[in-house]
Amino acid sequence: MKIHVYESAQAIGQAAAALFAAQVLAKPNSVLGLATGSTPVPTYREMARLYEQGAVDFSGVTTFNLDEYLGLERSHAQSYYHFMQENLFQHINVPQERIHVLKGTAPDPEQECLDYEEAIRAAGGIDLQILGIGNNGHIAFNEPDTVFSTQTRVVNLTESTIQANQRFFASADEVPRQAVSMGIGSIFRARRILLIATGEQKAGAVRAMIHGPVDPQCPASILQLHPDTVVLLDRGAARDL
Ligand code: GLP
Repeated sequence: MKIHVYESAQAIGQAAAALFAAQVLAKPNSVLGLATGSTPVPTYREMARLYEQGAVDFSGVTTFNLDEYLGLERSHAQSYYHFMQENLFQHINVPQERIHVLKGTAPDPEQECLDYEEAIRAAGGIDLQILGIGNNGHIAFNEPDTVFSTQTRVVNLTESTIQANQRFFASADEVPRQAVSMGIGSIFRARRILLIATGEQKAGAVRAMIHGPVDPQCPASILQLHPDTVVLLDRGAARDL
């Protein structure tokens, strides 16, 4: 893992967006893996700025998002589809037909997951995957588990994730209890991974990811074994390193 510490979330956003821009400049038909959560928002803002300035053209790009709440319509304000449109896709020029977000209301969610995995494979695999990290070390919606070999599937959210994400909903009762998520296996196949974390509330998870044992109880710890992972942290998230 290559670990870099920055002074602010905005500086991380600039560095992460520069890595995306470099990826797309080097390979205009790149397959990008994208994440939701508050952490990548400055990155997406900076990607939009680079696009507006003409520094990068996303017209040849294909994207796959990590996950989606089960049961939320795409039009729901807290759906990850809606989040991505608002925070990134409305501001850059990825063709809508090459944007992939798992459907939380698919009639057969298991089939939706199999089809998604196949679509990633058919697109040639993910070139660059951005990740945030949950307070319990989860990546996408891969909660602490006993195995790493998971593929895209239906998952149950833990109580700690429901609590952490309730800030986006009127109450904890409204947070969906399940999601569809790319697995650890699916994420690990990305050629390059960029994990970003900001704030002291992530310090414990970041320490476990980097210095802890490689153990599915800390899903992000698998990244110790990935051949090309870059970790961008602010001083808060790097506090316990
Ligand atoms: C959710 C998402 C993750 C994200 C995590 C942290 O659980 N499924 O992909 O990394 O939240 O979110 P935040 O960046 O808001 O702390």
